[in-house]
Amino acid sequence: MSARSRNLPRRSCLSIPGSSEKMLGKGPGIPADMVFLDLEDAVAPKEKEASRAKIAAAIRGNDWGDKVLCVRVNDWSTKWTAYDIIEVVGNAGERLDEIMLPKVESAAQIVATDMLLRQVEISAGLPIGHIGIEAQIETARGLINVEEICAASPRLETIIFGPADFAASMEMPVLTGGVKIDEYPGDHFHYVYNKILMAGRANGLQVIDGPFLHVRDSDALREYSMRSRILGYDGKWALHPDQVTVLNDVFSPTQEQFDKAWSILDAYKEATEGEGKGAVMFGNEMIDEASRKMALKFISRGERAGRTRSTQA
Ligand code: GLV
Ligand code: MG
Repeated sequence: MSARSRNLPRRSCLSIPGSSEKMLGKGPGIPADMVFLDLEDAVAPKEKEASRAKIAAAIRGNDWGDKVLCVRVNDWSTKWTAYDIIEVVGNAGERLDEIMLPKVESAAQIVATDMLLRQVEISAGLPIGHIGIEAQIETARGLINVEEICAASPRLETIIFGPADFAASMEMPVLTGGVKIDEYPGDHFHYVYNKILMAGRANGLQVIDGPFLHVRDSDALREYSMRSRILGYDGKWALHPDQVTVLNDVFSPTQEQFDKAWSILDAYKEATEGEGKGAVMFGNEMIDEASRKMALKFISRGERAGRTRSTQA
C-alpha cells in the first residue's frame, strides 16, 4: 500500500500551516524530503474549516516534485478529524501521499482512519490503499500502546515522536518541548525514543523525531538531532526552512561512512564467496554477517540521500 512514498527519504519533514496561502505557495521550493500541510496545531480553530480547501487547492495546483506530500488532520478527540479527511482526501487528487494523525492513543484510532480513508478513496476515484498514514505518539497513553498502534494498519508508513505535546501530557515542568534540559543528568527522552523506535522497526516503519523549538539556533538543532540520528531515526521535523538544510545533512551518512560501508560489503563478499569464511578481518576490525547488515543500511540511506561511491576497495 502507498507504494510511492513508503520508502522515500524523510530526513527533513517540514511543517507548513494550512491556513497560509503564502506558505503553501513557498512549500514546493524548500528542499525538504517531506512536507506536511497542517490542519492541527499550526492552525487556529476558527481557520480550520476554511483551510481544508486551501490545502486541497495547493496540492492540486503546485508542483511538489518528488517530495513526500502529507496533510496533518486533527486528532480523534476533536470534532474535525473525519471532515478533515473527507474534504481534503476527497478533493486533493492522487498527488497526496499520506495523512498524518496526531495524538494517536490506540490501535482503534488507526483502524478508524484506515476504514474512513477506504471509503473516501472509493468515492474520490483513488486506488484503494493509496493514502498512507503517519502516526504521532505524543501522549502517555499513546506511548503505552505504541506497539499495537504500529501494527494496526498496512497503510502505516511512519511513527513519529511529538516531544512538545508529550511533555505536556507527562506534566513535565518545562515550557519548551523538544530541546535539551540542562538540569537533567542525561537525555530525558531516551526511553521514549527507544520505545518508539523499537515498535516502529518491528513493524517495518520509518521512525521520525518531532520538532526542535529553538528555531533560530541551527547549531543547537544539529547537536540535539544527533540523539535520535544515532539511535537510528530516519529524520526529524523542520519548523523553518533553515532547519531543513541542517537535517538533510545530519540524517545522511557522510561520504566516508558510505564508502566504508561499500568496502565492508566487498571484503565480506570476498571472504564468504571467495575464501568460504564467515568472519574476516577488515583493517583492525572483525566483520561478519551482522556487519554486512549494518553496511547495507548505510548504503541504502546514502543512496536515498543521492550519494555515489567515491572509492573502490
Ligand atoms: C508535535 O506535534 C509535538 O507536539 O511535538
Ligand atoms: Mg503535537
